[in-house]
Amino acid sequence: MKKKLAVLLAGAMVMASLAGCGGNDAAATTTNDAPAAEPAAEAEPEAEPEAEPEAEAPADDAAEAPAAGGTISVGFAQVGHESDWRAANTQNYQDTFSEANGYELSFVDADNDNAVQLEAVRTFIQQEMDYICIAPIETAGWDTVLQEAQDAGIPVLIVDRSVDADPSLYTTQLGCDMVAEGETAGNWLAEYLNGEEAKILVIEGSVGASATLGRTEGFNNIAAGHSEWEILDSQSGDFTQAGGQEVMESFIKSYSDFNVVVCQNDNEAYGAMDAMDAAGITYGVDGDVIIISFDATHDGLQYTLDGKINCNVECNPLQAGFAAEVIKKLEAGEAVDAQTIVKDEAFVAPGITSQYAVTMTQEVLDGRAY
Ligand code: AHR
Repeated sequence: MKKKLAVLLAGAMVMASLAGCGGNDAAATTTNDAPAAEPAAEAEPEAEPEAEPEAEAPADDAAEAPAAGGTISVGFAQVGHESDWRAANTQNYQDTFSEANGYELSFVDADNDNAVQLEAVRTFIQQEMDYICIAPIETAGWDTVLQEAQDAGIPVLIVDRSVDADPSLYTTQLGCDMVAEGETAGNWLAEYLNGEEAKILVIEGSVGASATLGRTEGFNNIAAGHSEWEILDSQSGDFTQAGGQEVMESFIKSYSDFNVVVCQNDNEAYGAMDAMDAAGITYGVDGDVIIISFDATHDGLQYTLDGKINCNVECNPLQAGFAAEVIKKLEAGEAVDAQTIVKDEAFVAPGITSQYAVTMTQEVLDGRAY
């Protein structure tokens, strides 16, 4: 009964506007079109184009499933366990979609394997889950299985990353704005260097992931306006510490003259720092190489506070409350936003002040929940 209701809601109740969400132009124009049957008069008012506020934190009781509906089954096809960020994100889903909160969570760690993740989603469909959450490893290759979920009447939430499938095939997408994160990194670097030359090495995340594509695009958007910058090389470190170390070791063999290393997550930055330590290359606020990282996990911020990472752009992993809020609304027959942008900020090492980032203090680190 619950699933049939959810099907109707997933198809008919998704709002065509992005009120309460946004963060960049791409996000603001990405909407799940309401189905033809949805009368225009019932659509929510269009969001102000300039407003694009990021989502507020979910309500404290958002995780609790409605008591009358009984247990709600949720299948979560997670990317894997490649990073500290991912571990925090998984923990957050397991805490939020708990039995105590009225959920039965089926969790699959796809170990960064697309085939495993697709198979997990198909199993959730066979098991007739009430809802499916997918944190897609890659953006591509989702149309067929999303169509299968839709045919089975199961609402799908695309979480953390995004897909390039037709938005009418899923109910909602929620996560951080990866392009904006890349732009923040670029804007901070421009502010910090103030016209000085940059020879930049980039350790990208996993190939084909929206987190990689977005951060690369955002950083390149800013780099395009700086003829004094040169991106010497850009290679995937697969969002892992071992990957970051391996790529940095190979960069060190190939390039003797560089002054910026952009690591697309904290774990890659740890690996890159290990490689530079071994090669006797200094980095951070007192070193020869500027390090930019992404995620701003607890350990990443400790390195930022210690002045080893110059700038750390946050990607907030505590996103399950937003997914629970979507499910709660659907269960209650309410409309949901087509997209929710989870708010994040950036942090810089002590001694640096920036219009784009907060200067790290022990107090900021102590307040870190992940
Ligand atoms: O999709 C989010 C990214 O994936 C995080 O930056 C990274 O740490 C993770 O593995």
